[in-house]
Amino acid sequence: MTVPDLQKCKRDGRKITVVTAYDALFARIVEQAGIDVILVGDSLGVVVQGKPNTLSVTMEEMLYHTRLVAAAAQRSLVIGDMPFLSYQVSQEEAVRNAGRFLQVGAHAVKLEGGAAVADRVTAMAKVGIPVIGHLGMMPQSVQQYGGYRVQGKGKDRAHQLLEDARALEAAGAAGIVLEAIPAGLAKTVTEALTIPTIGIGAGPHCDGQVLVLYDLLGLFDEFVPKFVKPYGQLKVDALQALRRYKDEVEKGVFPSDSESYH
Ligand code: KIV
Repeated sequence: MTVPDLQKCKRDGRKITVVTAYDALFARIVEQAGIDVILVGDSLGVVVQGKPNTLSVTMEEMLYHTRLVAAAAQRSLVIGDMPFLSYQVSQEEAVRNAGRFLQVGAHAVKLEGGAAVADRVTAMAKVGIPVIGHLGMMPQSVQQYGGYRVQGKGKDRAHQLLEDARALEAAGAAGIVLEAIPAGLAKTVTEALTIPTIGIGAGPHCDGQVLVLYDLLGLFDEFVPKFVKPYGQLKVDALQALRRYKDEVEKGVFPSDSESYH
């Protein structure tokens, strides 16, 4: 999958599948399942690092995980998520940091914000860096919201979000993630744009869907938003396996003859 392929998916009406991954092992599994795009999300701050939000994730950490995923992925498009303060401070810093993601193997970067970051998107696009925008509930603004809340409700906010989406498209964005907004608004935005929308908690009308891998697999259960559908129960499986292992070691059942060298 390439960035132009994303646009073709929208034109052809083929839904785009996106999942996060943070390491080579899961990147290979995600790719083996035929997922189109791997997002190395700054959600790793929560699901990998155990932090309450994504704000403390650094460029160096994102580059480390992006390098692992990009080296493992053969066919999927790899998107590196720009962490808090890596693109907000100045345009020059934003372009340099975005470029570093491409240098470690990402095919595109993602950043949060609408009209306010449009100049960053244009500057990146000008030097050949494909950019995916992110509107609606933007986790890097969690302190401003006072918690993770649905966005774009009410006429004025919906209008603002549509204008932000248009600003990102005009700035040269290659796609937009829409997070936690009413399904009707996501439909309006999707129909108004020529670039694909990728929804997470944005209903069924987006051009594609994204989920955090550990949510999808049922591995992360500390906070499960309404929009998450766990397709697996890996935490349950892991607990069962670990408890059996402990039990068998304690009882002297493991290792048995077949797990021993002679
Ligand atoms: O960081 C992330 O994983 C994301 C997705 C939830 C869209 O931004």
